[in-house]
Amino acid sequence: MAFTVRLLLFSCLFLLPVSVFAQTNGSIAVGDSLTATAANSSPWLSPSGDFAFGFFPLGSNGLFLLSIWYAKIPDRTIVWYADRDNEAAVAPKGSTVNLTANSGLVLKSPQGEELWKSEISVGVVANGVMNDTGNFVLQDRNSESLWETFNNPTDTLLPGQKIERSGTLSSRQSETNYLKGRFQLLLQGDGNLVISTINLPTEFANEPYYSTDTTSGTVAGSEGKELVFNVSGYLYVLRENGGKYNLAGEEVVSARDNYIRATLNFDGIFAQYYHPKNFTGNVSWTLRWSEPDDICQRNREDSGVGVCGYNSICTLKDKRPTCGCPKGFSLLDPNDPYRGCKPDFIQGCEEDELSGTKYLYDVEVLTNTDWPTSDYVKVYPFTAERCNESCFQDCLCAVAIFRSETCWKKKLPLSNGRVDVNLNSQAFIKVRKDNSTLQFPPMPNPDDKKTKKKSSNTVICVESIILAASIFVSFMFSAAACRGFFFVFRKKHVRSVENILDSNLHSFSYQELQEATNGFTEELGRGTFGVVYKGTIQIGSGVQVAVKKLNGVIQDGEKEFKTELRVIGKTHHKNLVCLVGYCDEGQHRLLVYEFLSKGTLASFLFTDIKPSWRQRIEIAYGVSRGLLYSHEDCGTQIIHCDIKPQNILLDDYYTARISDFGLAKLLMMNQSKTHTAIRGTKGYVAPEWFRNMPITTKVDVYSFGVVLLEIICCRRSVDVENNCEEKVILTDWVYDCYLEGELDAVVDYEVQALGDKTTLEKFVMVAIWCIQEDPSVRPNMKKVVQMLEGVVEVKVPPCPSAFVSQV
Ligand SMILES: *[C@@H]1O[C@H](CO)[C@@H](O)[C@H](O)[C@H]1NC(C)=O
Ligand SMILES: *[C@@H]1O[C@H](CO)[C@@H](O)[C@H](O)[C@H]1NC(C)=O
Ligand SMILES: *[C@@H]1O[C@H](CO)[C@@H](O)[C@H](O)[C@H]1NC(C)=O
Ligand SMILES: *[C@@H]1O[C@H](CO)[C@@H](O)[C@H](O)[C@H]1NC(C)=O
Ligand SMILES: *[C@@H]1O[C@H](CO)[C@@H](O)[C@H](O)[C@H]1NC(C)=O
Ligand SMILES: *[C@@H]1O[C@H](CO)[C@@H](O)[C@H](O)[C@H]1NC(C)=O
Ligand SMILES: *[C@@H]1O[C@H](CO)[C@@H](O)[C@H](O)[C@H]1NC(C)=O
Ligand SMILES: *[C@@H]1O[C@H](CO)[C@@H](O)[C@H](O)[C@H]1NC(C)=O
Repeated sequence: MAFTVRLLLFSCLFLLPVSVFAQTNGSIAVGDSLTATAANSSPWLSPSGDFAFGFFPLGSNGLFLLSIWYAKIPDRTIVWYADRDNEAAVAPKGSTVNLTANSGLVLKSPQGEELWKSEISVGVVANGVMNDTGNFVLQDRNSESLWETFNNPTDTLLPGQKIERSGTLSSRQSETNYLKGRFQLLLQGDGNLVISTINLPTEFANEPYYSTDTTSGTVAGSEGKELVFNVSGYLYVLRENGGKYNLAGEEVVSARDNYIRATLNFDGIFAQYYHPKNFTGNVSWTLRWSEPDDICQRNREDSGVGVCGYNSICTLKDKRPTCGCPKGFSLLDPNDPYRGCKPDFIQGCEEDELSGTKYLYDVEVLTNTDWPTSDYVKVYPFTAERCNESCFQDCLCAVAIFRSETCWKKKLPLSNGRVDVNLNSQAFIKVRKDNSTLQFPPMPNPDDKKTKKKSSNTVICVESIILAASIFVSFMFSAAACRGFFFVFRKKHVRSVENILDSNLHSFSYQELQEATNGFTEELGRGTFGVVYKGTIQIGSGVQVAVKKLNGVIQDGEKEFKTELRVIGKTHHKNLVCLVGYCDEGQHRLLVYEFLSKGTLASFLFTDIKPSWRQRIEIAYGVSRGLLYSHEDCGTQIIHCDIKPQNILLDDYYTARISDFGLAKLLMMNQSKTHTAIRGTKGYVAPEWFRNMPITTKVDVYSFGVVLLEIICCRRSVDVENNCEEKVILTDWVYDCYLEGELDAVVDYEVQALGDKTTLEKFVMVAIWCIQEDPSVRPNMKKVVQMLEGVVEVKVPPCPSAFVSQV
């Protein structure tokens, strides 16, 4: 249904003729109604006839939108529309809207199904008024307002309208598609007015790409109270102390002679427009002001993929972003350039190897184009030729950017692509010569596979290309999904392979894993949840994996195991270790992870030679982002419960990757009363485990705080061998040092860290916030990430045990 509506909403035409309006006082009586019909849909008009409320035809497809629009101008501009759960309440022909005493406006389909209604909490409606300001108001007998469109804005503000704290505007999907789009303007609780992209279909907002910074800051009372668009046409954030932060400057056009509106456009630009009321000829809306100036440059890694989506290039044109694909790529959705691009070919190490020739790619050169957040390697000093060559030879590399003797190699998908004439850069893009893509062998019939399995246990070694290919494809699918470019694989390849959860995990037999690990001989490590072995899955030249044999498996088995796996399998983030498959055969439960070459954070940190400060900082950022993702951004919230350096792995580029995600829940450890049910590791577990308090994401924040201190200090949280008694417990010692202003000692007078005092101090303060014993005082991971990255200020942390007595 939603899908059809979306299709129909696309590219609809605006066919409504300028309505001939009758004299009216704008008042609508209870019992009045409107019907959505193309012919005689005369709307409810305001007294001046400037605004109309009614059914707006969406093209000629028989669909209507209950909305308010400017009635006197041919440029049909909708300023408000009914939306239900943030989806436009699209009404088919014959729908009615009635003004009722108890529910106010009620929109029903011709079949009588309720499509939308105004939410009135108290009171009885006496009448409605289509006001000359563009506000549709429901009033009671005493003309008290019960509900107004001004208090339920969609994407547009009109003079006289306000947004209070936690109020939002939400963009459409495109100029003519009124479904909820990707951009949101929000007056935050702290008074800051921000615009960000949101992660549809969730509500999670990325870091803002525009903000007024109207928080309390250093001056009390300077935080924003409301966003005001006053009747004279001024747009400003009114501060708590009465001060104003002007968004659109001091000059305004006359609100008497012009229609003025402020709209959060579908492409993320918040803009003010005007249109003369008295006009002749072909006049349209004029842009008066817009923010941000250059949205193409505004998006950073933490503010989403950018306005144009993955793999595309954003160019500014008349202050609005336009999106295009590089050569060799095409639009994901040909009707919507803002949804990103997909490569016309498959690129990857295994694919390159399979095709057996070295001359697969051409190199396209683009100047002044960059995808600033997709790099995995930076080389300096370098030459342009070597940069090109190095990417050309590297099967992971999709694009290399060369600028100022520096070469950045980037992999797919590319994000935040943009043109910036000041860059002076060259982009070398690898484009496959033959884009007929790789031809996979035909997929096996699932029944064939079953019979083969029965007749031979050595499934993975069967000399059948077909079977190997099926494993290869499904395995590659999940591996690719982890790297974020799963869209290059056709779904149909995977559907026909049996035993795959909808999260694209591969199901291995025990026998397969026994062979892959050479009989579980090479042990990589031992953790709370089981022993990990190194293995090789025989596809192509062999792919290295880490196989974890789970112990303490839950009793009531199958269903819960699969449910949890499904949750884990859906987590895809560059700071989480990727689960590629599992084995669930009787008492054998194993998980198959990608293999990470550089071992654990513990072995990296706790050695004689201190790793570099820069590397440690990056690792801390990585861990915080991975945790934030699992807490807020991956569909099902996952509390890790056992964050510690042994559970954080490092990949080839020393990117931190959190492992053992979701295992705490998966494996209810069979513990007796004496051990209580603490799932975690001594030295890292939050106090609430011992206090019979609810376990929330804040337990991970606590453990993160401890790990952060370990990263800063390069020592373990508890060091019983330390000669100096006050240094044994890291958290206590660091807090003492912090109080005494002796952070130099914390990093053991490390030169690099002392040269970066601001970061050092910030990190220590954030860590102290995280290890607060009272969970409610600890920030959430989002705040932690914001503080670490300097987006929000870090306030002076209280003593970690200050609140304990109250608990
Ligand atoms: C508006 O006009 C209607 C009749 O058209 C009348 O019943 C109503 O009382 C008027 N309302 C006001 C506020 O004048
Ligand atoms: C809404 O109005 C239409 C037309 O006047 C009427 O047929 C219908 O019964 C009304 N519905 C309700 C729920 O009042
Ligand atoms: C209705 O419009 C008038 C001016 O036309 C304005 O003074 C009044 O405040 C408006 N009422 C509401 C509830 O918007
Ligand atoms: C609107 O705001 C401007 C700028 O703050 C102010 O000068 C003007 O008086 C305000 N207009 C009204 C009607 O309040
Ligand atoms: C509209 O503009 C025309 C000429 O541009 C002028 O003659 C007319 O008086 C104006 N009407 C109003 C209501 O201002
Ligand atoms: C009105 O002006 C716009 C751009 O200024 C143009 O695209 C359009 O064709 C014009 N329409 C008419 C009917 O002249
Ligand atoms: C980049 O390298 C490839 C492979 O060596 C070569 O074919 C191509 O001409 C190079 N392009 C530029 C602009 O150097
Ligand atoms: C590659 O694909 C694009 C788009 O699908 C097509 O226009 C182009 O002709 C193809 N090139 C080759 C060499 O097949």
